[in-house]
Amino acid sequence: MFDKLLYIETFGCQMNVNDSERIVSMLSELGYAPTNEPSCADMILLNTCSVRGGAEEKVYRRLANLRIYKRDGKKQIIAVGGCVAQQEGEELLCKLPYLDLVIGTHNLHLLPGMVKSAENGERRSETTFIDNEQRLDLFPTIKGESRLSRFVTVMQGCDNFCSYCIVPYVRGREISRRSSDILAEVRTLADEGVREVILLGQNVNSYGLKSGKEPNFAELIHKVSEISGIDRIRFTTSHPKDMSDELIECFANVPKLSGQIHLPAQSGSDAVLKLMGRGYTRSSYLERVARLKAVRPHIVFTGDIIVGFPGETDADFLQTLSLMESVRYIDIFSFVYSPRPGTKAAEFTDELRREEKMSRLGRLMELQRLITKEISKNYIGHTMSVLVEGVGKLPGQISGKADNGRIVNFTGDVSNIGRFVDVRITKAYPNSLLGELKLS
Ligand code: SAH
Ligand code: SF4
Ligand code: F3S
Repeated sequence: MFDKLLYIETFGCQMNVNDSERIVSMLSELGYAPTNEPSCADMILLNTCSVRGGAEEKVYRRLANLRIYKRDGKKQIIAVGGCVAQQEGEELLCKLPYLDLVIGTHNLHLLPGMVKSAENGERRSETTFIDNEQRLDLFPTIKGESRLSRFVTVMQGCDNFCSYCIVPYVRGREISRRSSDILAEVRTLADEGVREVILLGQNVNSYGLKSGKEPNFAELIHKVSEISGIDRIRFTTSHPKDMSDELIECFANVPKLSGQIHLPAQSGSDAVLKLMGRGYTRSSYLERVARLKAVRPHIVFTGDIIVGFPGETDADFLQTLSLMESVRYIDIFSFVYSPRPGTKAAEFTDELRREEKMSRLGRLMELQRLITKEISKNYIGHTMSVLVEGVGKLPGQISGKADNGRIVNFTGDVSNIGRFVDVRITKAYPNSLLGELKLS
């Protein structure tokens, strides 16, 4: 039934990763099978991100490279989706004559029809926002792909408008999916053999708050945890200002909830947090962290930090380093501030020199490297429950994720894939752990 090949490159966050999964699923019904080789693909789609300036430039460069395949005389559809598509819309079709399709972040359901028109030579752009309940019926679900761990979108969009961030402009207003749809999807996944779900949204903590009809996020987690077959629940991303006591309690009361949380601080300085419009202070952030550590003693934190925000002084930056020392993240994503058109911070005066920003980033990354190393070293000798997801890097090895999200490789039989096993950690690397299977 597959007679065509689809090549997708995905940039940006998990929302895009999840959307790409949906695209693969939808287009399989039109006869497209995924491929890793753009030169032989009948359709090339870039699922783009515009959160930082660099990411956008990368997309333009990548498209310029990919167009060579189109020149080979072969009929090939080139499409751009995701946040750059949403931002630029029809402009992209004007700028890039070899481009066939531009598909916005609210329009995925239109893609099959658009691909059919493109097969007949029509060029189209669809980027209309659907900021009403109609959107709830337009979530294409993923069919026919069995994996052990799967994303489940619980909400889309964002209403927070942090002063630096383009996401609310490219993903639209926050909307929570109906809990009945979410739970039905999770049940179906469980029946297909999925063991872990990752509840996904730009700010999952505010799930349901706007609708009034739905449970809140903590209640949703309880409901998901009642579904048999699903043995581990994760979620991303959390906004610290909406990290309620009730949600924190879930880490005590819901054993299926993973012991890892992504809780982006962005900065450790109150002055900068205020300019960012984050809605929490350094001390309220640290108080949330302390509570989480109290209810789940071995909880692991990851986070995002922006350095060089307009007006960030060296003292502000030192506050960020000291926050990192207090939290002791196992890993962080760190970014140099990048002004985004249309956001509030783009209007702020930014006097910091590029070299200074890069130097701060270097200092921050060095500190994180040391913290990651120390935490990882402490795992040696501990036993972790690992969901085995596949073969490891070396022959004879299998690999999976521990409850705290760390990748663990160890010698073992592939028959363990899909099972939870106990592994004793013997060695720590920056991004993974090595262990040995404990025989029960
Ligand atoms: N919804 C998530 C983040 C989405 S964007 C949250 O609120 O946590 C992912 C990360 O990109 C952000 O956490 C932030 O650290 C970074 N980011 C966003 N806009 C940025 C910008 N203009 N410059 C640099 N980094 C940015
Ligand atoms: Fe961007 Fe802030 Fe929304 Fe996260 S919460 S997506 S950083 S506006
Ligand atoms: Fe990027 Fe869009 Fe995600 S801007 S970070 S892909 S929501």
